[in-house]
Amino acid sequence: MALPLHVVILAAGQGSRMKSHQPKVLHGVAGKPMLHHVIDTARTLNAAGIHGVIGHGAEQVRATTPAEDIQWALQSEQLGTGHAVAQALPNIPDEAQVLVLYGDVPLTRSDTLAKLVSDRDDILSILTVHLDNPDGYGRIVRNSAGEVQSIVEQKDATEEQKAIREVNTGILSIAGKHLKAWLPRLSNSNAQGEYYLTDIIAMAVTEGLKVEVAHPVTDFEVQGVNNRVQLAELERWYQRQQAIELMTAGATLMDPARLDVRGQLTVGSDVIIDVNVVFEGRVELADGVSIGPGCIIRDARIAKGAVVHAHSIIDGAEVGADAQVGPFARLRPGTVLAAHTKVGNFVETKKAVVGEGSKINHLSYVGDATLGAGVNVGAGTITCNYDGVNKYQTVLEDGVFVGSNTALVAPVTVAKGATIGAGSTITRDVSADELAVARGRQHNIPDWQKPRKKS
Ligand code: UD1
Ligand code: CA
Repeated sequence: MALPLHVVILAAGQGSRMKSHQPKVLHGVAGKPMLHHVIDTARTLNAAGIHGVIGHGAEQVRATTPAEDIQWALQSEQLGTGHAVAQALPNIPDEAQVLVLYGDVPLTRSDTLAKLVSDRDDILSILTVHLDNPDGYGRIVRNSAGEVQSIVEQKDATEEQKAIREVNTGILSIAGKHLKAWLPRLSNSNAQGEYYLTDIIAMAVTEGLKVEVAHPVTDFEVQGVNNRVQLAELERWYQRQQAIELMTAGATLMDPARLDVRGQLTVGSDVIIDVNVVFEGRVELADGVSIGPGCIIRDARIAKGAVVHAHSIIDGAEVGADAQVGPFARLRPGTVLAAHTKVGNFVETKKAVVGEGSKINHLSYVGDATLGAGVNVGAGTITCNYDGVNKYQTVLEDGVFVGSNTALVAPVTVAKGATIGAGSTITRDVSADELAVARGRQHNIPDWQKPRKKS
């Protein structure tokens, strides 16, 4: 029987090289705090418990991590990684397998961790990598038979040990009962005056445990973030992975290096995404959807064959099949466009349900509105949905034609087939098939004498 898994995430350090008022682990990769990446990965491992060790900015970390499945442990002074793990131990049962992760190492894959964690209590597993430049890392010291003997930190290493290129990623797994026995015995008489978690490797060897080593698929998985340059490197790598997944799933990316996915994007086949598009939250693009350059699309579903032209912003909206949006359109939350609709340049919609084949082609604001099928909204039409206190609905039934530069003062309903003359301010309901004109009449004055310049 495998021991129940408890994941301990170390996140108490300050991260002074970030030069930030924000705790390091809250800095984001792909729009999500690094710590949340680690927590989400931990959640894939069917853990019996997830423990966060926090210190610097502890309150802020807790407040921005509303996770009921995390047990927090406070490390008020940062006395080392061994001391940090010890803070979580009281919350971990004796019969447990413990996996130690770092809150500033955000992109480790679940399968790498699943491979690392042993189901036995007589094995210590460590995740290591071989680096051309091992500077700054703890080195993996092996004996002549190639068996791991200890980890020595850079600052405590001899010149000979510094030449070792196999390094400790910091991620390890060991039965809880051993941690409970060993951590109280750690000493801080070393170059940094810290209680090193890495000292348990030598303890395990002394007590005859087997030390096993696993490796990640790529080094980026175990790259930690100490400064904003490393943060940006991880961001680019992560985005590159997303781009590869999208292309594999059947999307054409005009430039895989100019795409940012900050959330979950799913694509059908033959989707085309032009350059500099940002996706946030959950976005679904069905087969044949085309997204023009410079769009920002958040929490949206775009049905098959729809075309979103350049520089459009879609947020919390649904776009129907073969619809056309933009260029320069802004669909705000609650917008639902049916199939074959058109929303053109400089049009803003909010809580607007637009029926099949309806068009709002230019320069309009349509908010809190329901449009039937085949409605045509002329350029410069505004729904006056707000009286400064409350919001009201505008209803345009099937086949309504709204002339340009119309103000629709809500609540107002324009019934089936009615026409609104251009330049109208509509304050009363309009019945089916009526023409409503609400504007000053035109007077033409013949032989009008133009003003003359004063002498
Ligand atoms: C640690 C390892 C080193 C490894 C390296 C990989 C030790 C002694 N050394 O070194 O072998 O190569 O990681 O990056 O473990 N933390 C706390 N409380 C503390 C100290 C640290 O929560 O008291 C957290 C930090 O926030 C960070 C992580 O633990 O997330 C690692 O700490 P850090 O100081 O970066 O360790 P290194 O010196 O880099
Ligand atoms: Ca570090």
